[in-house]
Amino acid sequence: MKFFVDTANLDQIKEAEDLGVLDGVTTNPSLMAKEGITGHDNILKHYVKICEIVSGDVSAEVISTDYNGIVDEGEMLASLHKQIVVKVPMIREGVKALRYFSNKGIKTNCTLVFSAGQALLAAKAGATYVSPFLGRLDDINQDGIDLIHQIVHIYSMYDFKTQVLAASIRSPLHIVRCAEAGADVATCPLSAILDLLKHPLTDSGLAKFLADAKKFTEPASNKF
Ligand code: E4P
Repeated sequence: MKFFVDTANLDQIKEAEDLGVLDGVTTNPSLMAKEGITGHDNILKHYVKICEIVSGDVSAEVISTDYNGIVDEGEMLASLHKQIVVKVPMIREGVKALRYFSNKGIKTNCTLVFSAGQALLAAKAGATYVSPFLGRLDDINQDGIDLIHQIVHIYSMYDFKTQVLAASIRSPLHIVRCAEAGADVATCPLSAILDLLKHPLTDSGLAKFLADAKKFTEPASNKF
């Protein structure tokens, strides 16, 4: 399973890259605004900076909602850097644009997906990735992991090439459950990835090993 970080924060992207487990980055307009990145040119420059930190796919979201606008904006974003994946919302005009980009060999990420039917449409339209938002489903008392299982099952039955990119992840448990469900990618806050490290038995076990190792490294004279 690939790990993407879901942020526009360059320090966090560098930290995830340094950890050696990063496969890509997803952003959205809210994440860009959170970092104070505003203005057309600044936003485009920021995407390029992200691409220079990581070697994998970087999702850049269109803000147009009509077919021609999505196509123009998507082509412009894709021309910024070879790692850019055009993120397109799951709307009627977006589905048409997914087909256009797919025919042109431009990678896409179909975002704001909340049902298996939407995921089926995204795959039919040739999306490279589909992004089911599991955390936002959990927020309204629907099991987001169930949706990941459903999409993975449908795609495998028909051998769709669209990759399931589990999004809106909130916790390390979400990541593990997505792995169990067979998601191709989990895009997560850096904190959720780092939380995968944690286990109290690891901490207490290491403390004991280090304490015991000290006994062997102390000078012989100290032993008596
Ligand atoms: C990523 O592609 C999505 O935009 C993101 O995961 C949404 O996450 P949120 O529900 O935490 O805003």
